[in-house]
Amino acid sequence: MINATLDMVNESTTIASQPAIEIQHLKKAFGSNVVLRDFSLTVQNGENVVVMGKSGIGKTILIKCIIGLIKPDGGTLHVLEQDISKLDHRKLDELRMRIGFVFQSSALYDSMTVRQNLEFPLRHDRHRRITGNIEDHIREALRNVGLEHAINLMPSELSGGMRKRIGIARALILNPEIVLYDEPTTGLDPITSEEITQLILGLQKKYKTTSIIITHDIDLAREAANRIVFLMDGIAYAQGTYDELIHNTDPEITHFFKR
Ligand SMILES: Nc1ncnc2c1ncn2[C@@H]1O[C@H](COP(=O)(O)OP(=O)(O)O)[C@@H](O)[C@H]1O
Ligand SMILES: [Mg+2]
Repeated sequence: MINATLDMVNESTTIASQPAIEIQHLKKAFGSNVVLRDFSLTVQNGENVVVMGKSGIGKTILIKCIIGLIKPDGGTLHVLEQDISKLDHRKLDELRMRIGFVFQSSALYDSMTVRQNLEFPLRHDRHRRITGNIEDHIREALRNVGLEHAINLMPSELSGGMRKRIGIARALILNPEIVLYDEPTTGLDPITSEEITQLILGLQKKYKTTSIIITHDIDLAREAANRIVFLMDGIAYAQGTYDELIHNTDPEITHFFKR
């Protein structure tokens, strides 16, 4: 019955679903260092886009612009249908609660236990995204990443892979619509990288999030990306599916697919 109703809606009207992220002609320079020159990218709802590119090319700057941590010099940036440049402090804060950010360094608070690290966003949930018992949410977040037993450990007691898992659990704890991953497998051994890849895939399916994943990890890109975008010279230099890009003969691209 519900399906029939939906079919009717689809046939009779065109409901244009807004993209989750729409970046147009983004520019960002630090003095004479032009990092983003004219970067455009549209990420549809539910889409998983991998961004690749050499170190220092501007990948982290790009996602910092998306969450409003860095102000671009030009261009427009719409996230979840809002123009980032037009948001006041409160609105920006509210929008950020809808975006999970997995920092490259995991960025756990070293003086807090795992429980306290996960509690932190819940206690600061000023916009009441999450209802119910805080302890239940912490347990579920840990279960999601297979680390329930680590609840009372300090970050210094965790392995690199465990820190990443806790970073991911924390990024997802407020049920974000968008998750941004900054090099989630960099610095991990191949087996742990594969585990983190599988974890990201599982969470993508479970929570149906939209994501941007910055990575050099070609296995992660192959498994997680609906689309791969290469950032070079401040622009989206090339993009396509994994299968399209492995057949690309541009040396700038083939370079990334060498193992
Ligand atoms: N706060 C900053 N001030 C000045 N330059 C910066 C700052 N943050 C990053 N940069 C420069 O911007 C460029 C892109 O950095 P980044 O986005 O971190 O690269 P990556 O692609 O490795 O993530 C680099 O040249 C870096 O030195
Ligand atoms: Mg970076």
